[in-house]
Amino acid sequence: MLDKMNVIIPVAGEGTRLRPHTHILPKSLLYVAGKPILGHILDKFQDIKVDKLVLVLGTRGEAIAQFSKSYPYNFKFAAQKKRLGLGHAVYTGAVGLKGAAVVWLGDTIIDFDIKDFHNYDCSVLAVKEVEDPERFGIVETKGDEVIDLEEKPKAPRSNLAIIGLYYFRRIELVYNAVRYIMKKGIKTKNEYQLTDALKYLLNKGEKFRVVKIKKWYDCGTPDSLLETNRHLLKKNHHYKKRKTCVIFSPVYIADSAVIKNSIIGPNVSIAEKAVIEGTMITDSIVNSSAILKNVRLKESIIGENALVKGGFKKLNVGNSSVIVFP
Ligand code: G1P
Repeated sequence: MLDKMNVIIPVAGEGTRLRPHTHILPKSLLYVAGKPILGHILDKFQDIKVDKLVLVLGTRGEAIAQFSKSYPYNFKFAAQKKRLGLGHAVYTGAVGLKGAAVVWLGDTIIDFDIKDFHNYDCSVLAVKEVEDPERFGIVETKGDEVIDLEEKPKAPRSNLAIIGLYYFRRIELVYNAVRYIMKKGIKTKNEYQLTDALKYLLNKGEKFRVVKIKKWYDCGTPDSLLETNRHLLKKNHHYKKRKTCVIFSPVYIADSAVIKNSIIGPNVSIAEKAVIEGTMITDSIVNSSAILKNVRLKESIIGENALVKGGFKKLNVGNSSVIVFP
Protein backbone atom coordinates (compact mmCIF):
# COMPACT_ATOMS: atom_id res chain seq x y z
CA MET A 1 0.00 0.00 0.00
CA LEU A 2 1.12 3.54 -0.71
CA ASP A 3 2.39 5.47 2.23
CA LYS A 4 0.07 8.14 3.48
CA MET A 5 -0.50 10.72 0.84
CA ASN A 6 -2.24 14.00 0.39
CA VAL A 7 -4.92 14.64 -2.17
CA ILE A 8 -5.78 17.96 -3.80
CA ILE A 9 -9.01 18.28 -5.75
CA PRO A 10 -9.54 21.66 -7.45
CA VAL A 11 -13.30 22.18 -7.71
CA ALA A 12 -13.37 25.90 -8.32
CA GLY A 13 -14.42 25.66 -12.00
CA GLU A 14 -17.60 27.50 -12.92
CA GLY A 15 -18.89 25.09 -15.54
CA THR A 16 -20.23 27.81 -17.82
CA ARG A 17 -21.04 25.35 -20.60
CA LEU A 18 -23.36 23.51 -18.26
CA ARG A 19 -25.61 26.42 -17.52
CA PRO A 20 -28.37 26.64 -16.38
CA HIS A 21 -27.48 23.74 -14.05
CA THR A 22 -24.34 25.47 -12.82
CA HIS A 23 -26.19 28.70 -12.01
CA ILE A 24 -27.21 27.01 -8.77
CA LEU A 25 -24.84 24.10 -8.29
CA PRO A 26 -21.07 24.03 -8.70
CA LYS A 27 -20.13 21.74 -11.57
CA SER A 28 -18.62 19.10 -9.32
CA LEU A 29 -21.96 18.64 -7.56
CA LEU A 30 -23.92 17.87 -10.71
CA TYR A 31 -25.75 14.60 -10.27
CA VAL A 32 -24.70 11.65 -12.38
CA ALA A 33 -25.34 7.92 -11.83
CA GLY A 34 -26.56 8.12 -8.27
CA LYS A 35 -24.35 10.84 -6.82
CA PRO A 36 -22.57 14.11 -7.60
CA ILE A 37 -19.52 13.98 -9.89
CA LEU A 38 -17.34 14.76 -6.86
CA GLY A 39 -18.77 11.74 -5.03
CA HIS A 40 -17.52 9.43 -7.76
CA ILE A 41 -14.06 11.01 -7.43
CA LEU A 42 -13.99 10.87 -3.62
CA ASP A 43 -14.86 7.16 -3.78
CA LYS A 44 -11.52 6.58 -5.54
CA PHE A 45 -9.53 7.30 -2.39
CA GLN A 46 -11.28 4.84 -0.11
CA ASP A 47 -8.59 2.18 -0.43
CA ILE A 48 -5.55 4.33 0.21
CA LYS A 49 -4.27 6.05 3.31
CA VAL A 50 -5.19 9.68 2.81
CA ASP A 51 -3.45 12.19 5.02
CA LYS A 52 -5.20 15.45 4.11
CA LEU A 53 -7.78 15.79 1.39
CA VAL A 54 -7.77 19.39 0.20
CA LEU A 55 -10.70 20.76 -1.76
CA VAL A 56 -9.83 23.99 -3.59
CA LEU A 57 -13.09 25.90 -3.59
CA GLY A 58 -14.35 28.80 -5.68
CA THR A 59 -17.85 30.19 -5.94
CA ARG A 60 -20.57 28.16 -4.17
CA GLY A 61 -17.87 26.37 -2.20
CA GLU A 62 -20.13 26.04 0.88
CA ALA A 63 -22.31 23.50 -0.94
CA ILE A 64 -19.22 21.42 -1.71
CA ALA A 65 -17.96 21.62 1.86
CA GLN A 66 -21.41 20.54 3.04
CA PHE A 67 -21.50 17.58 0.62
CA SER A 68 -18.03 16.41 1.62
CA LYS A 69 -19.24 15.87 5.21
CA SER A 70 -20.64 12.51 4.16
CA TYR A 71 -17.09 11.25 3.50
CA PRO A 72 -14.67 10.12 6.20
CA TYR A 73 -11.56 12.01 5.05
CA ASN A 74 -9.52 14.58 6.90
CA PHE A 75 -10.71 17.50 4.76
CA LYS A 76 -9.09 20.86 4.41
CA PHE A 77 -10.78 23.61 2.44
CA ALA A 78 -8.70 26.14 0.53
CA ALA A 79 -10.46 29.12 -1.02
CA GLN A 80 -9.20 30.24 -4.41
CA LYS A 81 -10.44 33.81 -4.22
CA LYS A 82 -9.32 34.80 -7.71
CA ARG A 83 -9.50 32.53 -10.71
CA LEU A 84 -5.88 32.82 -11.78
CA GLY A 85 -5.46 29.38 -13.35
CA LEU A 86 -4.98 25.73 -12.44
CA GLY A 87 -1.38 26.31 -11.32
CA HIS A 88 -2.64 28.89 -8.86
CA ALA A 89 -5.45 26.55 -7.70
CA VAL A 90 -2.99 23.75 -6.95
CA TYR A 91 -0.63 26.24 -5.27
CA THR A 92 -3.54 27.41 -3.09
CA GLY A 93 -4.34 23.82 -2.13
CA ALA A 94 -0.72 22.82 -1.55
CA VAL A 95 0.07 25.41 1.12
CA GLY A 96 1.83 23.62 3.98
CA LEU A 97 1.78 20.16 2.34
CA LYS A 98 4.86 18.00 1.96
CA GLY A 99 5.61 14.67 0.31
CA ALA A 100 3.46 12.58 -2.02
CA ALA A 101 0.25 14.07 -3.35
CA VAL A 102 -2.34 13.24 -5.94
CA VAL A 103 -4.03 16.09 -7.80
CA TRP A 104 -7.33 15.05 -9.36
CA LEU A 105 -9.35 17.68 -11.22
CA GLY A 106 -12.91 17.87 -9.93
CA ASP A 107 -14.59 17.20 -13.26
CA THR A 108 -12.46 14.29 -14.42
CA ILE A 109 -13.90 10.81 -14.40
CA ILE A 110 -11.58 7.96 -15.34
CA ASP A 111 -11.13 4.33 -14.42
CA PHE A 112 -7.86 4.36 -12.57
CA ASP A 113 -6.72 2.66 -9.40
CA ILE A 114 -4.70 5.15 -7.32
CA LYS A 115 -2.72 2.26 -5.86
CA ASP A 116 -1.08 1.85 -9.29
CA PHE A 117 1.05 4.93 -8.54
CA HIS A 118 2.88 2.60 -6.18
CA ASN A 119 4.67 1.14 -9.22
CA TYR A 120 6.42 4.40 -10.09
CA ASP A 121 9.77 5.75 -8.96
CA CYS A 122 8.91 9.36 -9.87
CA SER A 123 6.04 11.78 -10.46
CA VAL A 124 3.40 10.67 -12.95
CA LEU A 125 0.98 12.41 -15.31
CA ALA A 126 -2.10 10.61 -16.61
CA VAL A 127 -2.43 11.17 -20.36
CA LYS A 128 -4.56 10.14 -23.28
CA GLU A 129 -4.24 10.50 -27.03
CA VAL A 130 -6.71 13.09 -28.30
CA GLU A 131 -7.75 14.45 -31.67
CA ASP A 132 -7.68 18.11 -30.61
CA PRO A 133 -4.43 18.49 -28.64
CA GLU A 134 -4.46 22.30 -28.90
CA ARG A 135 -7.25 22.29 -26.26
CA PHE A 136 -5.07 20.63 -23.60
CA GLY A 137 -1.77 20.48 -21.82
CA ILE A 138 0.39 18.27 -24.03
CA VAL A 139 3.38 16.08 -23.23
CA GLU A 140 6.14 14.80 -25.45
CA THR A 141 7.61 11.51 -24.33
CA LYS A 142 10.48 9.13 -24.87
CA GLY A 143 9.25 5.72 -23.78
CA ASP A 144 7.07 6.67 -20.85
CA GLU A 145 9.34 9.52 -19.74
CA VAL A 146 8.26 13.10 -20.28
CA ILE A 147 10.77 15.14 -22.28
CA ASP A 148 8.67 18.26 -22.79
CA LEU A 149 5.29 19.73 -21.97
CA GLU A 150 3.27 22.65 -23.23
CA GLU A 151 -0.09 24.11 -22.27
CA LYS A 152 -2.60 24.41 -25.13
CA PRO A 153 0.02 24.77 -27.91
CA LYS A 154 -1.01 26.36 -31.21
CA ALA A 155 1.11 23.85 -33.11
CA PRO A 156 1.10 20.69 -30.95
CA ARG A 157 4.09 18.40 -31.37
CA SER A 158 2.25 15.49 -29.78
CA ASN A 159 -1.34 14.39 -29.27
CA LEU A 160 -0.83 13.09 -25.73
CA ALA A 161 -3.04 15.24 -23.54
CA ILE A 162 -2.74 15.70 -19.79
CA ILE A 163 -6.16 14.64 -18.56
CA GLY A 164 -6.21 16.06 -15.05
CA LEU A 165 -4.78 13.34 -12.79
CA TYR A 166 -1.29 13.92 -11.43
CA TYR A 167 0.86 12.11 -8.90
CA PHE A 168 3.64 14.19 -7.37
CA ARG A 169 6.36 12.63 -5.27
CA ARG A 170 7.03 15.95 -3.57
CA ILE A 171 4.16 18.39 -3.74
CA GLU A 172 6.33 21.09 -2.15
CA LEU A 173 8.37 21.21 -5.38
CA VAL A 174 5.22 21.91 -7.36
CA TYR A 175 4.20 24.60 -4.87
CA ASN A 176 7.59 26.26 -5.23
CA ALA A 177 7.50 25.97 -9.03
CA VAL A 178 4.11 27.70 -9.24
CA ARG A 179 5.38 30.35 -6.85
CA TYR A 180 8.31 30.86 -9.22
CA ILE A 181 6.18 31.27 -12.37
CA MET A 182 3.87 33.64 -10.51
CA LYS A 183 6.80 35.73 -9.35
CA LYS A 184 8.16 35.86 -12.89
CA GLY A 185 4.69 36.55 -14.35
CA ILE A 186 4.87 33.48 -16.60
CA LYS A 187 1.34 32.97 -17.94
CA THR A 188 -0.27 31.03 -20.76
CA LYS A 189 -3.72 32.09 -21.94
CA ASN A 190 -3.44 34.73 -19.26
CA GLU A 191 -3.41 32.17 -16.42
CA TYR A 192 -0.83 30.62 -14.14
CA GLN A 193 -0.76 27.11 -15.53
CA LEU A 194 0.20 23.94 -13.72
CA THR A 195 1.74 22.71 -16.98
CA ASP A 196 4.11 25.73 -17.06
CA ALA A 197 5.20 25.01 -13.49
CA LEU A 198 5.82 21.36 -14.34
CA LYS A 199 7.83 22.38 -17.42
CA TYR A 200 9.99 24.53 -15.14
CA LEU A 201 10.52 21.52 -12.84
CA LEU A 202 11.31 19.24 -15.78
CA ASN A 203 13.94 21.70 -17.01
CA LYS A 204 15.43 21.72 -13.51
CA GLY A 205 15.88 17.93 -13.72
CA GLU A 206 12.73 16.57 -12.08
CA LYS A 207 11.58 13.29 -13.63
CA PHE A 208 8.03 12.65 -14.81
CA ARG A 209 6.53 9.58 -16.40
CA VAL A 210 3.18 9.18 -18.09
CA VAL A 211 0.49 6.60 -17.53
CA LYS A 212 -1.86 6.17 -20.48
CA ILE A 213 -5.54 6.12 -19.69
CA LYS A 214 -7.90 4.36 -22.08
CA LYS A 215 -11.19 6.08 -21.35
CA TRP A 216 -11.64 9.55 -20.02
CA TYR A 217 -14.95 11.20 -19.33
CA ASP A 218 -14.99 14.89 -18.77
CA CYS A 219 -18.20 16.46 -17.62
CA GLY A 220 -17.84 19.82 -19.34
CA THR A 221 -20.89 19.87 -21.61
CA PRO A 222 -24.43 18.40 -21.47
CA ASP A 223 -23.45 15.73 -24.02
CA SER A 224 -20.30 14.73 -22.16
CA LEU A 225 -22.22 14.66 -18.85
CA LEU A 226 -24.69 12.22 -20.44
CA GLU A 227 -21.83 10.14 -21.79
CA THR A 228 -20.31 10.05 -18.30
CA ASN A 229 -23.72 9.02 -16.98
CA ARG A 230 -23.86 6.09 -19.43
CA HIS A 231 -20.36 5.02 -18.45
CA LEU A 232 -20.84 5.24 -14.68
CA LEU A 233 -24.21 3.47 -14.78
CA LYS A 234 -22.47 0.35 -16.03
CA LYS A 235 -21.03 -0.07 -12.52
CA ASN A 236 -23.16 2.17 -10.40
CA HIS A 237 -26.68 1.02 -11.09
CA HIS A 238 -29.53 0.52 -8.70
CA TYR A 239 -33.30 0.35 -8.65
CA LYS A 240 -36.18 -1.27 -6.88
CA LYS A 241 -39.03 -2.60 -8.94
CA ARG A 242 -42.05 -0.37 -9.17
CA LYS A 243 -45.55 -1.59 -9.95
CA THR A 244 -46.94 -0.19 -13.22
CA CYS A 245 -43.44 0.58 -14.57
CA VAL A 246 -41.13 -1.06 -17.07
CA ILE A 247 -37.46 -0.48 -16.34
CA PHE A 248 -34.59 -1.19 -18.71
CA SER A 249 -31.15 -1.49 -17.09
CA PRO A 250 -28.81 0.13 -16.46
CA VAL A 251 -30.49 2.82 -14.43
CA TYR A 252 -29.99 4.44 -11.05
CA ILE A 253 -33.29 5.24 -9.37
CA ALA A 254 -33.19 6.68 -5.87
CA ASP A 255 -35.47 4.74 -3.53
CA SER A 256 -37.36 7.90 -2.62
CA ALA A 257 -38.29 8.67 -6.24
CA VAL A 258 -41.98 8.09 -6.95
CA ILE A 259 -42.57 6.54 -10.36
CA LYS A 260 -45.87 5.40 -11.85
CA ASN A 261 -47.07 4.19 -15.25
CA SER A 262 -43.72 4.89 -16.87
CA ILE A 263 -41.03 3.31 -19.00
CA ILE A 264 -37.57 4.13 -17.68
CA GLY A 265 -34.17 3.45 -19.25
CA PRO A 266 -31.76 2.43 -20.34
CA ASN A 267 -29.14 4.90 -19.06
CA VAL A 268 -31.30 7.01 -16.81
CA SER A 269 -30.35 8.46 -13.41
CA ILE A 270 -33.17 9.62 -11.17
CA ALA A 271 -32.36 11.43 -7.95
CA GLU A 272 -34.11 11.57 -4.58
CA LYS A 273 -37.77 12.50 -4.44
CA ALA A 274 -38.24 12.94 -8.17
CA VAL A 275 -41.82 12.28 -9.26
CA ILE A 276 -42.41 10.65 -12.63
CA GLU A 277 -45.77 9.68 -14.07
CA GLY A 278 -46.95 8.54 -17.48
CA THR A 279 -43.49 9.13 -18.89
CA MET A 280 -41.08 7.38 -21.22
CA ILE A 281 -37.48 8.44 -20.63
CA THR A 282 -34.16 7.15 -21.88
CA ASP A 283 -30.53 8.30 -21.71
CA SER A 284 -31.18 11.14 -19.26
CA ILE A 285 -30.52 12.61 -15.84
CA VAL A 286 -33.37 13.71 -13.57
CA ASN A 287 -32.32 15.69 -10.51
CA SER A 288 -33.94 15.63 -7.09
CA SER A 289 -37.56 16.65 -6.65
CA ALA A 290 -38.04 17.20 -10.39
CA ILE A 291 -41.51 16.35 -11.69
CA LEU A 292 -42.15 14.74 -15.08
CA LYS A 293 -45.71 14.12 -16.18
CA ASN A 294 -46.82 12.56 -19.45
CA VAL A 295 -43.67 13.27 -21.45
CA ARG A 296 -41.35 11.32 -23.75
CA LEU A 297 -37.75 12.35 -23.18
CA LYS A 298 -34.33 11.30 -24.35
CA GLU A 299 -30.84 12.80 -23.86
CA SER A 300 -32.24 15.27 -21.34
CA ILE A 301 -30.95 16.81 -18.14
CA ILE A 302 -33.70 17.97 -15.79
CA GLY A 303 -32.74 20.25 -12.92
CA GLU A 304 -33.80 20.06 -9.28
CA ASN A 305 -37.44 20.99 -8.65
CA ALA A 306 -38.07 21.48 -12.39
CA LEU A 307 -41.51 20.62 -13.74
CA VAL A 308 -41.95 19.15 -17.23
CA LYS A 309 -45.50 18.37 -18.18
CA GLY A 310 -46.89 17.01 -21.42
CA GLY A 311 -50.45 16.37 -22.43
CA PHE A 312 -52.66 14.30 -24.64
CA LYS A 313 -53.56 15.21 -28.20
CA LYS A 314 -57.15 15.13 -29.30
CA LEU A 315 -57.59 14.02 -32.92
CA ASN A 316 -60.38 13.35 -35.34
CA VAL A 317 -58.49 11.77 -38.24
CA GLY A 318 -59.92 10.55 -41.50
CA ASN A 319 -59.10 7.24 -43.22
CA SER A 320 -55.68 6.94 -44.92
CA SER A 321 -54.40 10.18 -43.33
CA VAL A 322 -50.74 10.40 -42.32
CA ILE A 323 -49.91 12.34 -39.20
CA VAL A 324 -46.39 12.56 -37.83
CA PHE A 325 -45.59 14.29 -34.54
CA PRO A 326 -41.98 15.47 -34.30
C1 G1P B 1 -6.53 21.95 -17.51
C2 G1P B 1 -5.01 21.86 -17.65
C3 G1P B 1 -4.64 21.14 -18.95
C4 G1P B 1 -5.31 19.80 -19.01
C5 G1P B 1 -6.82 19.95 -18.81
C6 G1P B 1 -7.51 18.59 -18.69
O1 G1P B 1 -7.02 22.79 -18.53
O2 G1P B 1 -4.47 23.16 -17.64
O3 G1P B 1 -3.25 20.98 -19.00
O4 G1P B 1 -5.04 19.19 -20.26
O5 G1P B 1 -7.11 20.67 -17.60
O6 G1P B 1 -8.90 18.76 -18.65
P1 G1P B 1 -8.50 23.44 -18.47
O7 G1P B 1 -9.46 22.32 -18.80
O8 G1P B 1 -8.68 23.96 -17.09
O9 G1P B 1 -8.52 24.51 -19.51
